[in-house]
Amino acid sequence: MNSDDPNPQTGPFLGVIFGASGDLAKRKLMPAIFNLFRDGLLAESFAILGMSRKKMTDDAFREKIISDMEELAPGELTAEMKEKLLPHFFYISGDVTKAETFSRLKSRMESIDKECQTGGNAFFYLATAPTLFSPVVHALGDEGLINEREDSWRRVVIEKPFGHDLKSAQQLNHDIQIKLNEKQIYRIDHYLGKETVQNIDVLRFANGMFQPFWSNLFIDHVQITVAETLGVEGRGGYYEHAGALRDMIPNHILQLLSLIAMEMPISFGADDMRDEQVKVLRAIRPLHGEDINHNVVRGQYVHGTVDGKDLSAYRAEDNVDPSSMTETYVALRLAVENQRWAGVPFYLRTGKRLARRVTEIVVEFKKPPFTPFRETTVQSLEPNQLIIRIQPDEGISLRFVTKVPGTLLKLDEVDMDFRYADYFGRAPATGYDRLLYDCIRGEATLFRRADMVEAGWLPIAGIQEAWEHSGDSLTEYASGTWGPAEADALLSRDGRQWRVYV
Ligand SMILES: NC(=O)c1ccc[n+]([C@@H]2O[C@H](COP(=O)([O-])OP(=O)(O)OC[C@H]3O[C@@H](n4cnc5c(N)ncnc54)[C@H](OP(=O)(O)O)[C@@H]3O)[C@@H](O)[C@H]2O)c1
Repeated sequence: MNSDDPNPQTGPFLGVIFGASGDLAKRKLMPAIFNLFRDGLLAESFAILGMSRKKMTDDAFREKIISDMEELAPGELTAEMKEKLLPHFFYISGDVTKAETFSRLKSRMESIDKECQTGGNAFFYLATAPTLFSPVVHALGDEGLINEREDSWRRVVIEKPFGHDLKSAQQLNHDIQIKLNEKQIYRIDHYLGKETVQNIDVLRFANGMFQPFWSNLFIDHVQITVAETLGVEGRGGYYEHAGALRDMIPNHILQLLSLIAMEMPISFGADDMRDEQVKVLRAIRPLHGEDINHNVVRGQYVHGTVDGKDLSAYRAEDNVDPSSMTETYVALRLAVENQRWAGVPFYLRTGKRLARRVTEIVVEFKKPPFTPFRETTVQSLEPNQLIIRIQPDEGISLRFVTKVPGTLLKLDEVDMDFRYADYFGRAPATGYDRLLYDCIRGEATLFRRADMVEAGWLPIAGIQEAWEHSGDSLTEYASGTWGPAEADALLSRDGRQWRVYV
């Protein structure tokens, strides 16, 4: 959104949320709508129609929204907001696997469109299990619900996971493109809605001081860490089929990599941006055969103690196979094979039950020559690091070496630190506000195009295949640590180390 936009409000619309009684709707979607409404960004003529199998009246749905909001953000929903906002919400129960549901949906949408003057514009948000993505799109198409008119739009928002490997992502793209034009499809990766992620482009392309250094001439390597302290928290059934590689790498983490490594786009328009991101993803060398053993570490958490609390092993979690080979941690070393990045390793790691919750990108610069310090007491020089903190405590730090005050020449590293909270007060939103707003405005830059999704699966397709046939390489790590020792070795072999948190 451009702050100079004379009319930042959306136009009229009806948003249909499939899976309205579920967790995502409760924790992310409804609060996002609330935030957009509070900030005056929604048109006066809008409506939200929730759907799931659970039987509820409009009033019961509105009551649920109130109680969810009160649980999640006590005190935020004022009496005035309730009065103004709640009449925009409606509910219809239905099973999306049944065709009759969609004819009822159609007539309900028509009556809400008339009542709320939503202009025939509608988005359908698929907050349901991934197995329902394609059937729902087909049912919407069969009922004529996604036909656009000259003066109105229809869009479909699809949640992650988008496929579980390259083949299934290609199949899902193919299936939904039978009914939908690519321009109507909004594939969500909520990481792309985060302020700090959008700021990567600004940092790189609006600051003359970084641009000249942004290549293998000056950058030694890049690290991306997405670490969680939580385990699978009752979602063992889901996680058994996902694992850290599939759950985090082809979407969130490779999106971050593509933003760090892409060439400058000719504009920030949706296709120009996404063209450059796809090029980088396709330049990543896919790992196969022996390369996998050398460049990938997978681990699974065993019991451990965190803050004096005894935490159980992954294999002891509910709905997890006691001999499960699912990885809860993965670290990779990837190469981006193009002129800018040749010779610069990209180290990625993500895992559950790690020592600290942090999502961060570290760009480490090459060390200067030691020569002028040869005759001094300085033992070694540390490299400069640019650290982009995505969450928590969003911000950017520049780590550099400085002289410790005193008679002897001693050096130490210090951080020049920018924190969003210090400069802009309010903490950046979760990403869903921005993404919903963009979808309603028809702005697709922060959504993943079909080729981007497929390009995300390419680098790891060989790893998935290898792991299907062998469990040899699964290593253990204690809950509350930084993961398996093998992941440290992945860097120390190259004379590097993961950023140390104190
Ligand atoms: N939760 C998150 O934080 C999160 C984050 C990222 C992505 N996602 C993705 O978002 C989607 C939803 O996740 P969730 O966590 O909200 O799942 P959830 O809590 O299990 O909710 C699923 C929703 O789908 C409805 N549903 C299931 N079968 C249906 C059917 N046949 N017809 C109509 N409605 C049906 C359920 O309601 P009824 O049982 O009443 O029908 C419920 O409202 C998934 O694709 C997930 O991967 C979730």
